[in-house]
Amino acid sequence: MKLFSSVNDVDDVNALVKEALKLKQFPYAHKSLGENKTMALVFLNPSLRTRMSTQKAALNLGMNVMVLNMDKEGWALELRDNVIMNGNTVEHIREAAAVMGQYADIIGVRSFPGLKNREEDYSEMIFNKFVEFCGVPVVSLESATRHPLQSLADLVTIEELKTRSKPRVVLTWAPHIKPLPQAVPNSFAEWMCKADVDFTIAHPAGYELCGDFTNGAKITHNQDEALADADFIYVKNWSAYEPYGKILPGNQDWMLTNEKLKITNNAKVMHCLPVRRNLELSDEILDGASSVVVHEAANRVWAAQAVLKRMLEGLS
Ligand code: CP
Repeated sequence: MKLFSSVNDVDDVNALVKEALKLKQFPYAHKSLGENKTMALVFLNPSLRTRMSTQKAALNLGMNVMVLNMDKEGWALELRDNVIMNGNTVEHIREAAAVMGQYADIIGVRSFPGLKNREEDYSEMIFNKFVEFCGVPVVSLESATRHPLQSLADLVTIEELKTRSKPRVVLTWAPHIKPLPQAVPNSFAEWMCKADVDFTIAHPAGYELCGDFTNGAKITHNQDEALADADFIYVKNWSAYEPYGKILPGNQDWMLTNEKLKITNNAKVMHCLPVRRNLELSDEILDGASSVVVHEAANRVWAAQAVLKRMLEGLS
């Protein structure tokens, strides 16, 4: 594997999930695979889970790890071609990515969308320029439109905790005070549409995701209808795709509560974290028996380790 940017980079999703679960059982079974290999984790935006879990995954495989908080510690990057760099940008992404590729065998990149220009965000310009210029395998640590390591960890969690062979999985929109990217719900939808699950997306009118990511999903504006008999409820806020990056008025009643859970099949509640308590998810759910958010975050290690193992196996 030379690129992990979406579910489309994975030949066999089930095999990758199984690999992650095997690594969870035997974390150090491939300790020599990454010997004398270096992972660079490059963050253009903040992170807790992605940073720590991917670093731990690389260390479990015997790799050396370098972390660069590009937004705070690196030079301001120029992304456009054919410009006179007489403004605030100091280094062009062409040189920056190429130099990183000299120091690292695998590079991870996190680059959020600006949420101002949909065409620019959905072209994945920053992430794709890293891929183009660094010359080594690249793993997405969350890009403008997708968060594949999160989605793989989510699927691993569902596989581990499911109580029936084809569980009912619901992605439900939740309120927030800030416009958030569509990367997590896009990615979750894309992975669930390829998994052996019965998948529904519930959101208020106006929060339709881009159809490229939801092909095969049932979509409803009725949250109660979606929650009925659900085995897993994935809670997430996202801003509108049209008008792009906007929060629409109302919909505070979409926050999940224990009362709403009563109609589910004893559903487990998931969230990628970080979560704003009592805005996106209630205390009673996060502190109750139905929440699996910490379990899910723990699985980020095994998802990342499965992907890095595939990439290391592909290095000559
Ligand atoms: N879920 C997730 O990606 O968390 P971080 O933003 O903290 O990495």
